[in-house]
This record gives sequence, C-alpha cells and structure tokens, in this order.
Amino acid sequence: MADVAYQICVNAACKATYDVGEALFACPKCGSLLDVAYDFSRVRLPRKLSGFELRWKERKDPLNLSGVWRFRELLPFAKKRDVVTIGEGQTLLLEAAEPLAHYVGLRPGRFFLQYEGLNPSGSFKDNGMTAAFTHAKMVGAKSAICASTGNTASSLALFAAASGALRAIVFIGRGKIAYEKLAQILDHGARTLQIEGDFDDAMQKVQEVASDPRFYLVNSLNPFRLEGQKAIMFRVLESLGWRTPRWIVLPGGNLGNTSAFGKAFQELYELGLIRRKPHLAVINSTGANTFYQIAEKRRVKWNKGKVNEASIKRFYQRMDERGIRAKTIASAIEINRPVNLIKALRSLEWTRGLVRQVPDEEIFDAKAQVGKFGLGCEPASAAAVAGVKRLRREGIIGEKELTVALLTGHSLKDTGATVGYHTTRKSELPRVFAGFKVKRARYQNRPIPVTNDLKAILRALKE
Ligand code: F0G
Repeated sequence: MADVAYQICVNAACKATYDVGEALFACPKCGSLLDVAYDFSRVRLPRKLSGFELRWKERKDPLNLSGVWRFRELLPFAKKRDVVTIGEGQTLLLEAAEPLAHYVGLRPGRFFLQYEGLNPSGSFKDNGMTAAFTHAKMVGAKSAICASTGNTASSLALFAAASGALRAIVFIGRGKIAYEKLAQILDHGARTLQIEGDFDDAMQKVQEVASDPRFYLVNSLNPFRLEGQKAIMFRVLESLGWRTPRWIVLPGGNLGNTSAFGKAFQELYELGLIRRKPHLAVINSTGANTFYQIAEKRRVKWNKGKVNEASIKRFYQRMDERGIRAKTIASAIEINRPVNLIKALRSLEWTRGLVRQVPDEEIFDAKAQVGKFGLGCEPASAAAVAGVKRLRREGIIGEKELTVALLTGHSLKDTGATVGYHTTRKSELPRVFAGFKVKRARYQNRPIPVTNDLKAILRALKE
C-alpha cells in the first residue's frame, strides 16, 4: 500500500514531496512541517464509514483489535507486516452524567467525553505512537527519542518495552513532569535524560540530537504520529453512529491533536464520508497560552499555507525579552512554543474553530467535577471541560449543540495535583501546593481525620 502515500511540505511556497520511506521531521528544503498525503483514488475504502465497525467481529487479528489500524485505509502508509500495535485505542465515548452536563451548561444528552485515559499507557499518545513505531520499522530505525511533558515519554517507553521494536530515549525538563509519568518511564526502562530546563528546552535539544538518523524522533513533529491520532476522531464518529458533533473541544499543548483532528475531518469530508464540518475549540491554560495569543489576539491565520511567520517570530522574541515562561498546574500542556502551530492554524481555519484560555482554578474545578461524575482525568484534560463551560457562558456553544470534550489522560497520571486540591484546608487557601497558588477549591472532598474509636467513627459518619 505504501506507494499511495507520500510526504508533502505544508508551506504553500514550497510543497516539496518526499517518499514515505524517508524519516524526515522537517522539510529539508525550507524547514517547514511535513504532512503525510494520500492518493485515495488508489485505496479501496469501505463505501460507508460503518464498514469499519464490521471489523469488530474479527478482533483476533491485532490490526482489527487496534482502535487505530481498524481504520487502516484512512491512514494507508504502511504494509500490514510493518504495523507495530499493542492493542491501543480501546477507548470510550461516554455521555456525560447529568450533573456534569449541567455544570458546563449543556442539555443532558448533548455532552460527551472521549476518554483516552484507557489506552495502555494511560493517555491518547498511544494512538500516535503505534503509527510512529510502524513508520520507524519501515525505515529500519533502532532507537526512538522524544522530549516530553510526560505522556509522550511514557507512551514511547511502554511501546518500546511491550513491542521490543526500538530502544527508548526520553528527554524531560527537570521537575517538569508529574511523578506518575516519571514512574512509568523509569519502570519501562527508557534511558531518561533530565535536562536542566523546561519542555521547550528539551524539545530544542531533542531536535538537534535527532538530526542524526540513528535517532528516530517520535514527537508530534513526526507526521506519521499524527496519522495515528486521526483515529481518535474516527472512533468518536463511530461511537456517535457516524453523526458529526457540532463541537470538538480539546486541550492545546504542542498542538498535535489539533493538527491531526483537522486533517482527519478534512480528509473524511473530501472523501464524501462525512457531510458536516465540526468546529474545533482548542483550550489553552492561561499560564501557557501561546496559541491563544497568536490565533485570537494577533489573529494570525493559516491563509492557504502563507502564514504570517514574522508575527509569530515577533511574539516569541517578546516572550523571551520579557522572560515569560509557561507555568500551569496542567503540566502536560506547559509549553511555550508549540511545534505544530502552523498545522493547528490550518485546522482552525478549515473547521472555523477557535481558541480560548482557562485559568488553573477553573481547570481544577472542572477536573473535580469530571472525577465526581465520571471516569476522572488529569489536569490538562480538564482544561477541555473548563473550556466548554466558558464557551457556553460566552454563548458560543448553544445549550443543545452536540459537544465532545477530549479527556486526554487518565486520572492517575497526576495524583499530586488531585490530592493537593482536595486536602488543602480552606483556611490555608490561597495556598501554594504542587508549586501552584490556589485561591479557592470549590469542589473539595477532604478526608476526615478520626481517632481509631468506634464512637468517634460513627460520629464522623453522621456529620
Ligand atoms: N493532554 C495531555 C494529557 C497531554 O499529555 C498533552 C501533551 C496534551 C493534552 C496536549 O496535546 O500536544 O497534541 O496539543 N503532552 C505532550 C507530552 C506534550 O510530551 O506528553 P497536544
């Protein structure tokens, strides 16, 4: 199948193309991002999207079990024998419980949560990692490398351990990832470099290291990884009986999902497999709001691939001059310079989407509500739910509009933040825990200290 796929530079002034057999993480001619593109006229697609569902009957085939490769004709860059899968993508779209729909201001039955925490490594990253590992196998790579705020690294470490296909190397900013993610990385045996600095510093260094072809880069600069992440949206549509929701709301960090989801919907639309375009709403944390600043405040547009890069450069320059660095409790999205910014602008334009920012306190409160009324999630994921609430308040999302929020990571990915939120005494607020100042914690569930005495216990139960 590989001959139907190729790589193409997203820069309209360049548009250079490359074979899928090459491991490139930027266009060698102009340095822009690359896409994987297809000649779909040469792919035998099911006539209807529902055709993919029939593969559930043949789940003994690992390609059909995978929530990514079940849709293989929509990412046809690999031969079956090259696919590296560990059963990723067995995730759920859940209708939000009534109190949660009420919390965000949507009518019951109109709010859904796509819970990607059910992936083997506990985050959505596994959707992309299977595609990246598959491409790595195609090009004969031996080591895979990434910079990470934790989840990409744990996914890489787990895939390397479970598939035995590659050696894992991860770069993390010292003190910049949740303990649970560090635990996964160490447990799965990845060689772990704690760089003095933050995610952006680690990202820059990893790109320098990956200019050596012995190191295969699995960050979302890798266009093949994003092909895998398209499948998250295929599964959302599948779970909705192939209805297209009005809104897809997701947290924005390095903007890989934003890029992948826009591409997924654009391809489905151009193939005539969906008739409506959803809107993407990307939610930044106020403490890490580069995309918001660039897309909403400076109004930088995709502009048919002729992006005003000078404006972006000026923004970054000012950020550096003023010493502004991202800081948020949602450590997964604590990012200054999202690598997929240009592709994300394309997704916004095509879906007529938007970007919003939400402060840490709203993220925390939303997280507590997701926990109280459902499967829970990590802080970065809760930004999406806080974003839905904001967009309802602004009147941008209508109360009856079908809305899907993406819960990107498992609730056990950052227990320090959760326990801190619930246990800090009201009298101690505003208070700094896990490095963050919190002025209020509206939905606290504090443990009750009690002596080891039956009477005291029964008294505590009455209160
Ligand atoms: N949610 C979680 C839980 C994440 O781990 C990330 C990114 C995002 C959202 C943002 O997604 O980059 O596609 O916009 N984590 C990366 C990492 C950066 O290294 O694990 P994005």
